[in-house]
Amino acid sequence: MNKIVVKGGIPLQGEVQIDGAKNAVLPIVASALLATEGVSKFYNVPNLSDVKIISNLLASLGVKISYDQQEKILEVDARDNLKNEAAFDFVSKMRASFLVMAPLLVREKVAKVAMPGGCAIGSRPIEQHLKGFEMLGAKIIQDGGYVEAHAPEGLNGTTIFFDFPSVGATQNVIMASCLAKGTTILENAAQEPEIGDMIKFLKKMGAKISGENTSRIVIEGVEKLHGAEYTIMPDRVEAATYMIAAAATKGDVVVKGARYEDNVALVSKMREMGVEIDVLDNAMRVRNNRDSLKPIDVKTLPHPGFLTDMQSIIMVLTLLADGVSTVTETVFENRFMHVEELKRMNAKIRIEGRSALIEGLPRLEGTNVKATDLRAGAALVIAGLISHGETTISHIEHIDRGYVDIENKLRKLGANIVRIEE
Ligand code: UD1
Repeated sequence: MNKIVVKGGIPLQGEVQIDGAKNAVLPIVASALLATEGVSKFYNVPNLSDVKIISNLLASLGVKISYDQQEKILEVDARDNLKNEAAFDFVSKMRASFLVMAPLLVREKVAKVAMPGGCAIGSRPIEQHLKGFEMLGAKIIQDGGYVEAHAPEGLNGTTIFFDFPSVGATQNVIMASCLAKGTTILENAAQEPEIGDMIKFLKKMGAKISGENTSRIVIEGVEKLHGAEYTIMPDRVEAATYMIAAAATKGDVVVKGARYEDNVALVSKMREMGVEIDVLDNAMRVRNNRDSLKPIDVKTLPHPGFLTDMQSIIMVLTLLADGVSTVTETVFENRFMHVEELKRMNAKIRIEGRSALIEGLPRLEGTNVKATDLRAGAALVIAGLISHGETTISHIEHIDRGYVDIENKLRKLGANIVRIEE
């Protein structure tokens, strides 16, 4: 099992370049399946294990796919007929695999995709995805751990109200509506910037969509879509991770690719704590030279609220506050797994229902901890950077799902961090 070992206490200094967004590239690559003409070419594709999973899934469906790791270019040729079944092996490894449901359904008229099931952070149902497909006219059968969708005559546009602004359901239903007959209106749609990125790509493919980055998205169905070239947006969670690492270590770091407009809630909360943030051209400079930060209250919410993926990471910063902070998780039911690990490092955190009460303290103590999921793992790396002594983080395969070269990027900023391959 591979591990990351961090020795804490060094302020991070310098510049770090953010890679392409994991949560944008996955739905965008899935939507490339809609192209019956031409090839799609993507730039700024991060070299992540989740990107490998979606690539292998597409290859298993009969798509020609190639990735140039050096140039970060991914090419997708989906012109041949597709196999219409996504196996459990893929979906169980990565929930976002369920995003191939819509393109397979509209291309092949029948699609069979394994049900995603639960994961470390909660039960994560898919009823909003299925409701959307059904309202567009698909017949849904759930049996033996698979979802089968049938639409032999194609789909028909309609108005769909989401009970909750689910990111994945919004993406899946947008993809399905692009080739439906007539107009589809999505109400209470999710507004995350990664959905806006997917819509920009779909428009380059020939889709007619308006209302991106709002809760009301209107899609006019078209006859067919073609391949296109697209540059993936920078990863705002990776950016947040380096911004918080810079502040927590009392450093001074320019995070290149960090965009203010994608991270307004984060920047506001960090400034509320007393961290200095300068918004530069396509970058943010983060500085902190205070002995203590102010405590804050954070609540995760759908966009434009505070992103749940940054909850564990900002919690580490609140450990340095002069007083008690609260972090309330409203999006996922079980996203406090990092708390037990942080407590092993001497953190004083109490969970009350959906909230964590975090007491600021002078320092953490390094020890052995376990990355329970992707963002929990990132939080532990930052905790290691501010701890006394050595922190060893195991199960780092979770971290590799969403961070390109994390130890090298941090080492370039001055951190004492190594990966041990066993
Ligand atoms: C996406 C992101 C993930 C992020 C999450 C919320 C990707 C690949 N993943 O996940 O990193 O944490 O958005 O910003 O982009 N829900 C239902 N029924 C549904 C669908 C969702 O109850 O049909 C619930 C989920 O259980 C969860 C909440 O809604 O509690 C948010 O889920 P959703 O927005 O769908 O997240 P994902 O698309 O899975």
